[in-house]
Amino acid sequence: MSEISDLRSYLRVLEGAGQLARIDAPVSMVHELADVGSTLARTDTGAGYFSNVDGSPWPIVCGGVTSHRRAAIALGCEQDEIVDVMDRVLDPANGITPVRVDPDRERVPWLANSVTGDEVDLDAIPIPTHSRGDGGAFITGAVTVAKDPISGRGNLGYNRMLRFDDRRAGRNRLGFNVNEWRDVGTFWKSREDPDAPFPIALAIGLDPAIMIAAGVKTPVDELLIAGAIRGQGIEVCRGVTVDVDIPAAAEIVIEGLLHPTVREPEGPLAEFHGYHGEAWNSPTFEVTAINHRHDPIYQTIIPGWYEHIYIGNVLPREPLLRRFVRHLDATAEVHIPPYGNGFLAIVRIERDNPGTPKNLAMAAMAAHLNIRNVIVVDRDIDYHDPAEVQWALTNRVHWTTDVFTVPGAQGHEMDPTADQRGVSTKVGIDATYKRERREYGERVSYPMVDLHRYLT
Ligand SMILES: Cc1cc2nc3c(=O)[nH]c(=O)nc-3n(C[C@H](O)[C@H](O)[C@H](O)COP(=O)(O)O)c2cc1C
Repeated sequence: MSEISDLRSYLRVLEGAGQLARIDAPVSMVHELADVGSTLARTDTGAGYFSNVDGSPWPIVCGGVTSHRRAAIALGCEQDEIVDVMDRVLDPANGITPVRVDPDRERVPWLANSVTGDEVDLDAIPIPTHSRGDGGAFITGAVTVAKDPISGRGNLGYNRMLRFDDRRAGRNRLGFNVNEWRDVGTFWKSREDPDAPFPIALAIGLDPAIMIAAGVKTPVDELLIAGAIRGQGIEVCRGVTVDVDIPAAAEIVIEGLLHPTVREPEGPLAEFHGYHGEAWNSPTFEVTAINHRHDPIYQTIIPGWYEHIYIGNVLPREPLLRRFVRHLDATAEVHIPPYGNGFLAIVRIERDNPGTPKNLAMAAMAAHLNIRNVIVVDRDIDYHDPAEVQWALTNRVHWTTDVFTVPGAQGHEMDPTADQRGVSTKVGIDATYKRERREYGERVSYPMVDLHRYLT
C-alpha cells in the first residue's frame, strides 16, 4: 500500500526525500509567496511549505509536482518509470472505483469545521495573488468536482477562480473560468434547464494522485485514475450542501452553485503558455458551504509555471505521444519538457535509420493538437537536460535539410504563435547524428563525480 493517501502524508514523504523546503520567514500572499515558490521550482529545490504567510491563518503549500523527481515520488515509481505508470493508470481498464464513506468526522476530516448559509465568509480562505500581471487573487490549486446529470459519473478538473474584492457579483461569489469544451460545462448544458444553478465542489489540499488525475481529459471519472495510481479506491463523501462525491481526505472543501448565466469579467491570469491571458466573461460561483479540517493546509498552484505544465501537459500527454511514436519505432522514448509549455516534444531514438526521425516527429505532432515543435535526438542525449538538447540542436542539425515545417496546421487557440483559431506551423527537427554526412566518432564525455568527496 502507498505511504501517500493525502496531502499531509505526501509532504512527509517529500521531506524524507529532501524534496520539501520549509519557509518559516514571513511571506506576503501578494506576489512574494509566488516569487519564492516559482524560484523553488526553477531551481528544483523542492515543494514549498510556507508556515508564516502574512494574512493567512493557515500554512500554504505549492509545487508538489514541479519536477520529474517529485512526480516520481507522487506516483510511487522511479523517474524512468513515470511514462509507464501514467500509461497504465490512464487505461480505463485499470481504473479503480472510488469508495463512498459515511459523513463521519473520523473518516472525513473536512467535516470537522463547516459553515453554511449566511455564516459563509470567503475572506476566511487565504487566496494568493500570484503573478504581477494577474487581475487579482485567484484560487488556482483547487480541484473542481462535478457530477454528470445524465450518467451520474463524477468528474475532476481545474478552473481558476477570481475572488471579487469589490463584491461586484454579491457576497461570497467567485469568477469561474471554464473553456467551452470542458466536462463541467458539458454537464450543466446537458440539463433540462441549462441555465439553472449547477452544484459543484472545490477540493483543496489533496493527495497528488488526485491532482495529477484532475489534469487528464478523459470521458471517465478521473477519480478512477487516482485510484489506479494508489492501487485502491479513493474515499469520497457527499458534500454538506451539494450532492457531489468529494475526496474525503481533502484539507478544505468549498461547495456551491455555479450560475451559468450570471457572468462577470475575470482575469487575466498567468497562462500555461507563459503569457498573461485575457479577461473572460465567466460564470460566477456562489459559495454555499466552507468545510475544513482542523488546522488545514491551503494548497496553490503557481499559474503559468512548472506545476501547471506538469499536471496539465507533461504527465497526461507523454504516454499518448509515446504510443504514437512507438507505432513506428518500438524503442522510441518521449519527453514533453515543462519549459516548452506543452508545445514542444522531444523524441529519443535508439536506431539511426535516415528518414525515421522525421517520421517520428510527424507521429508526435499528430498525436496531440498542442504539440507544435518536435526535436528528435539520439540515445546519447539526456533529453531531460535542456543543455544537452541545445547541444544536439547546435551540433547535429543542418538547418536546410534536417528541418521540415507543416504550415497551416491546427494547434491550440492559445498558442502564442498561432492565429485566433489556433492555426500555426508545426516544426520537426531531426537533431540526430548523421554518420553518413561526416564521421566524428564518439562524443566527448566525462563521468559526473560526487563533488562532496573533493571539495573542502
Ligand atoms: C493548474 C491548471 C489550471 C487550469 N485552469 C483552467 C481554467 O481556468 N479553465 C479551464 O477551462 N481549464 C483549466 N485547466 C484545464 C482543465 O481543467 C483540465 O485540463 C481538465 O483535465 C479538464 O478535463 P475535463 O474536461 O475532463 O474536466 C487547468 C489545468 C491545470 C492543470
